[in-house]
Amino acid sequence: MPQMQSNVTWFPAALLMALATLSGCGRVEWNDDLEYPDRTSSIVVLDKPPDQAPPGFPLPGRPAVVPEWLTARGVTLLNPASMSEKPWSDNWKNTLHDELISHFATPGKPRLGAPDAPALTVLANELGLTESKLAEGARLYRRLCVQCHGMSGDGVGASSAWLSPAPRDLRTGDFKFISTAEHKLPSGFQPLKARPRHEDLVRSLRSGLEGTSMPSFALLGDESLEAIAAYVLHLSIRGELEFTVMNGALRQDRETLQLVTKSPEQEELIRYKRLLSTTLEWEDPEADVDDFVAKQSSPSIKAYAEKYIDRVLREYIAANKNPLPVPAYPYPENQPLPATSITAGHTLFKAQCVNCHADYGRQSDLRFDIWGSVVRPANLTQSQYKGGRRPVDLYYRIARGIPPCAMPKANLGDTDPGRAGWDLVNFLQALPHPDQLPSDVREQVYGPSRIKLGANP
Ligand code: HEC
Ligand code: HEC
Repeated sequence: MPQMQSNVTWFPAALLMALATLSGCGRVEWNDDLEYPDRTSSIVVLDKPPDQAPPGFPLPGRPAVVPEWLTARGVTLLNPASMSEKPWSDNWKNTLHDELISHFATPGKPRLGAPDAPALTVLANELGLTESKLAEGARLYRRLCVQCHGMSGDGVGASSAWLSPAPRDLRTGDFKFISTAEHKLPSGFQPLKARPRHEDLVRSLRSGLEGTSMPSFALLGDESLEAIAAYVLHLSIRGELEFTVMNGALRQDRETLQLVTKSPEQEELIRYKRLLSTTLEWEDPEADVDDFVAKQSSPSIKAYAEKYIDRVLREYIAANKNPLPVPAYPYPENQPLPATSITAGHTLFKAQCVNCHADYGRQSDLRFDIWGSVVRPANLTQSQYKGGRRPVDLYYRIARGIPPCAMPKANLGDTDPGRAGWDLVNFLQALPHPDQLPSDVREQVYGPSRIKLGANP
């Protein structure tokens, strides 16, 4: 009899397991026709971060963006639920939804570029965003990323509220760790977004972001990482288009929906057009300017979507061709870090970095980033770098800044910018290790005088 009883308790468990296996539980496939959800989270209008600091990091279990903190500091939040049909005459909410489906399809069968927009598919393929790669990237994303970054890349996957810093919302097109040369645009024109190079995305995936919950995926191998990076761009471009159109709609502002802001200066416009033509290989530089502007200002969501995706794809292609130049290391290689260089780097750091990295980052004030979430200027005595610890990674951070966190690129002067850049890198590398600092620098960073200044009571 006792044996019978144990069989009774065992049997339902076995049945459940068998059923789970048969029903495909454990496989993480999505039906091809399951759609990406439309954006419902607020659009944070942060053209520049507010001056006043956030009160802290959100408590565990709370979302990364705390609306009350932002509105108390004069930041506007636009709610997609309150979108009106104005100022577009067509039923534009549905049109936007349809456009997103037609250009990006579904998570189970993603693509980039609608079948009736073959030019976009050509650009997407040039960028490596082919349907087969996206399908593989999406499959891996579902297995490895969705619990943190969410199905649409909104950064609110199931475990996100318990993680600090929170997983990234990939839907604005902003990335932190980039190594792209900056486009110089004439004043009065919206700057192009700082796009990452393909390599930057792969680096973040391969190494993870140290000191955060974003793990390393190095074990996957290059081909899988390439596919995931392609899918990250798919999600990001989809989200960015949705974000931009909603932003324009909620501001009731057709201007936001123009790729080029019209400048009173025709001359400037021509220069700008030439620049886009050469850097982004866009349009015929000799074409008529009025015609050019007319084409950029969108007559409809459909035309706008196509133009916008076209532009973003070209920006990514241009980014891949424009790595930030890295000057040669001006000191003997494979030697201990030269004391003169560390001292020179320290001087630059005191002039340009301490207002954010207060007390070398040990007492940094919190800030808002471009997403409206909270970020702390890194504690640079800790030897922990999200964007990588190779000297060249530090060089990229210094020479390019971290645009979404409003960390500016360093001013490296005109005399010998290469040397100044590497001096800062050398200082940063020595900073966490008191024994590597020249004694006067060590005194200033770790000595009792720092305590007397009240820097660290
Ligand atoms: C355990 C949670 C977690 C998982 C799993 C995870 N991420 Fe992340 N991811 C994060 C966090 C947290 C950040 C943001 C860190 C920050 O900005 O400080 C991030 C940031 C990123 C970034 C932004 C990098 C930049 O330059 O700004 C990308 C891209 C990214 N993740 C892609 C992925 C992909 C693709 C996967 C799956 C292969 C993945 N992540 C898996 C937590 C996660
Ligand atoms: C306007 C504020 C600001 C200034 C000025 C600033 N930083 Fe930062 N810095 C930040 C913020 C914010 C972060 C954190 C980014 C994050 O964690 O996502 C950061 C992070 C860093 C990191 C860590 C990058 C990583 O991979 O994790 C380094 C290195 C750094 N800053 C160096 C510098 C240097 C050197 C200077 C001066 C030339 C400087 N910063 C000036 C705001 C600033």
